Amino acid sequence: MTSMADKVFHPRSEGIPSEGVMDQYADGKAARVWKKFVGDSNQRTQNYKDFLIGLLRANGCVKILDAACGTGIDSMMLVDEGFQVVSVDASDKMLKHALKARWEKRKNPKYDEWVIEEANWETLHRDVQSFLPDPSFDAVICLGNSFAHLLDEFEDQRVQRRALENFAKCLKPGGLLFIDHRNYDAIIDSGATPGHSIYYNCKYPVDIKTSVLVVGGRPELITLDYCIGGTDDGDDTNRSEFRLCYYPHKLDKFTKMLDEAFG
Ligand SMILES: C[S@@+](CC[C@H](N)C(=O)[O-])C[C@H]1O[C@@H](n2cnc3c(N)ncnc32)[C@H](O)[C@@H]1O
Repeated sequence: MTSMADKVFHPRSEGIPSEGVMDQYADGKAARVWKKFVGDSNQRTQNYKDFLIGLLRANGCVKILDAACGTGIDSMMLVDEGFQVVSVDASDKMLKHALKARWEKRKNPKYDEWVIEEANWETLHRDVQSFLPDPSFDAVICLGNSFAHLLDEFEDQRVQRRALENFAKCLKPGGLLFIDHRNYDAIIDSGATPGHSIYYNCKYPVDIKTSVLVVGGRPELITLDYCIGGTDDGDDTNRSEFRLCYYPHKLDKFTKMLDEAFG
């Protein structure tokens, strides 16, 4: 029997141990349905695509490190647009889909140069150096509400700071970091999370149940239960569910942390 407390505090899909596994995607559940969640990779939401590509081009960026490539959706958009892309992620379950996507595109010469490797933000610079002696990029992107997966295990945000410093180390002088997260200020205030986002083109209804864990008066963890494709009439045949958890970054504090990491 699952109690209400288990539902709220177990911060990952059932079956993933609560300790020793940093990879919330390790059961393959989210990875399997991620494609369904993000929609057709060839039809990214136009204003998101214009925003990202426009800024990269306006700043003369060519070499890009996608530090949270997941199944490869942003990376492929950039490869298609002619950028030189190195894609990394900590989850082999997610990377498996990116590797498969590259294989499926093998007849397109643009995809010959697409590098996909495993790396963790906590050791990012060293990890990238292991397959690329000079990890120095015009831009690092960490998009799709990824960074918030890094939790605050020591309650002083040292792990998050170290990750941001690693992003900075992977940039050429004057390089750009693109990093985003959901509007946690609004999520904390409202206790709700919008189903659709500007990044993805999901054609199914998305319901996200939101749990906010408050410790000592401070929101410390947000658990999101995604339900994709369920219908109101109770037909569950097409329904996909997974659970992910996030650190609720508040914009002012996050901005300060970025300023510190980049001097
Ligand atoms: C929400 S997914 C987004 C993936 C992709 N950017 C997208 O928009 O579809 C978050 C990704 O961040 C990765 N991730 C989480 N923590 C990480 C870490 N410490 N180092 C590297 N990747 C990490 C996860 O494995 C996952 O693939």
